Amino acid sequence: MNQKQMVQEILALKTKHNALILAHYYQNKEIQDIADLVGDSFQLSKAAAETNADTIVFCGVHFMAETAKLLSPNKRVLLPVKDAGCPMADMADAKSIKEYREKHPEASVVCYVNSTAEIKALSDICVTSSNAEKILKRYPGQKFLYVPDKNLAQYLIDKHDLNIDLFEGWCDIHNDLTVEDVKTMKEKYPDARFIAHPEAPLEVLREADFVGGTQALLSYALHDEASTYLIGTEEGLIHELQKQSPDKTFLPVTDKLVCEDMKKTTLEDLHRALKEGVYEIEVDSTIREAAEASLRRMMEESAQ
Ligand code: 13P
Ligand code: SF4
Repeated sequence: MNQKQMVQEILALKTKHNALILAHYYQNKEIQDIADLVGDSFQLSKAAAETNADTIVFCGVHFMAETAKLLSPNKRVLLPVKDAGCPMADMADAKSIKEYREKHPEASVVCYVNSTAEIKALSDICVTSSNAEKILKRYPGQKFLYVPDKNLAQYLIDKHDLNIDLFEGWCDIHNDLTVEDVKTMKEKYPDARFIAHPEAPLEVLREADFVGGTQALLSYALHDEASTYLIGTEEGLIHELQKQSPDKTFLPVTDKLVCEDMKKTTLEDLHRALKEGVYEIEVDSTIREAAEASLRRMMEESAQ
């Protein structure tokens, strides 16, 4: 089957199963192009919660599909590649959180959406890169543990002087960004704006003209007046930027910004997912309610 036939079959299967195809901005171009909605983790979670479709095919990584299932428990949620995971999400462990809670009963536990359902269930509230700052800065005196991304937490502490204890977790892709990478590209493109995701280390974020979650980076670069941007997040975002703003130049700040897990999903995988109903996401019934509650708290706080 050639690519054109594959695309046609995917669209036919989508109609047959009343399915919604969601894709994160870090997915391969052909997956972004066929999706009903391309977005960041928050937008996709909202879409999953609001859809009337019977099946959600989540082209992303496991925690994203699991989040969709938590917010849409009566829908069938499929992840086209079984082992598409987020190494950072797997860095947080339940034992550490339970021990922390015993030592610090006054603290609230905040989990980044890049976490397992088990960690969400042990947390008071979940946040994503698009709403962590908006929500947590409302609580200047409150003590928090933020799991698992130490870089995003460090950024919030630096910007708002918040009382946050760090967890030793990070994203290998964003954490690898260095000040040297930024300086090298700024020398080559002195008029370019550097924009970065808060999963990057603090010293790199201090070099940025703008820091924000994936959707905020997209909005900034589309509406700002510069002509060249150095992109400090996964390179998949450049596809949408270039589509929406073909006259501007968008360059990855290094060629290391590729999330292999996000890039695992191919059209063949999406086709198989719709045809065979794989891989269906299930959430352990003992943690489902508590995990959903931390996501619902995020939705409420984010809407305020
Ligand atoms: P967003 O919440 O910005 O979509 O980020 C998800 C992610 O995995 C970033 O690496
Ligand atoms: Fe996880 Fe990093 Fe990939 Fe995002 S880019 S899914 S945080 S490994």
